[in-house]
Amino acid sequence: MRLELSGVRKAFGKHVVLANANLDVSFDHVLAILGPSGGGKTTLLRIIAGLEYPDAGQVSIDGEVVDYREEALLWYRRRLGIVFQAYNLFPHLSALENVCLPLEKAHGVDRKKAHQLAMETLERLRLVDHAHKKPSQLSGGQRQRVAIARALVVQPKFLLLDEPTSALDPEMTAEVLDVIAGLGREGRKLLLVTHQMGFARRTASRVAFVAEGKIAEVASAEDFFQHPKTELATRFLEKILKY
Ligand SMILES: Nc1ncnc2c1ncn2[C@@H]1O[C@H](COP(=O)(O)OP(=O)(O)OP(=O)(O)O)[C@@H](O)[C@H]1O
Ligand SMILES: [Mg+2]
Repeated sequence: MRLELSGVRKAFGKHVVLANANLDVSFDHVLAILGPSGGGKTTLLRIIAGLEYPDAGQVSIDGEVVDYREEALLWYRRRLGIVFQAYNLFPHLSALENVCLPLEKAHGVDRKKAHQLAMETLERLRLVDHAHKKPSQLSGGQRQRVAIARALVVQPKFLLLDEPTSALDPEMTAEVLDVIAGLGREGRKLLLVTHQMGFARRTASRVAFVAEGKIAEVASAEDFFQHPKTELATRFLEKILKY
């Protein structure tokens, strides 16, 4: 998959969050987006996901320029899967119903077929036993796996994940990271914002380092962690790998 950004700018009021973000990266499976808190990672991911529009500049995916007009965005978003830090499941619906929802509502799949596809996806994520539970009856790790199932069930072109494990304890984090690593191995295309440096190092084919409103560095995971090129990345890694 090839992701290109040219001159992407985004401000909230006077606060310029992305000043002039440029990127041209091709990757096989997983692109990890790393960087200090407040650097603009989530904003960048939301722009790529079509949930936020850039004030200036252009985003393209596999050579196709993203059209940020509202009608085009509706179509664009349907082709993606998005997983956030706090799982955003509907509390009054079971796991199964949560996974069926995008199929029925956004893709017009009939109930019976949606049910079948949802069960297949839940099975792949080892959640069949929990299909009829409401989110409040699931553990955090299970909930996040349901959120991943919901994103996957529509066969997205690629999956965007924003710190999918940051609300989880270590054991559940491992459970969810295992699932994500498995998706990468299956050849799914993932854009992953994470603070899990060990995980990024092991699973990412490429790393984009976002700081101070720019994409300061793009490298293979190995190069990024062993030989960061910029002062910003060097300082970030020193700080984060200290403990
Ligand atoms: N909707 C918004 N309105 C105003 N300011 C915003 C909005 N969204 C983000 N910001 C600001 O933009 C900056 C970048 O935020 P962003 O969420 O992209 O950072 P991040 O790199 O994801 O940080 P973290 O690692 O803490 O999640 C922050 O200073 C934040 O306060
Ligand atoms: Mg963020």
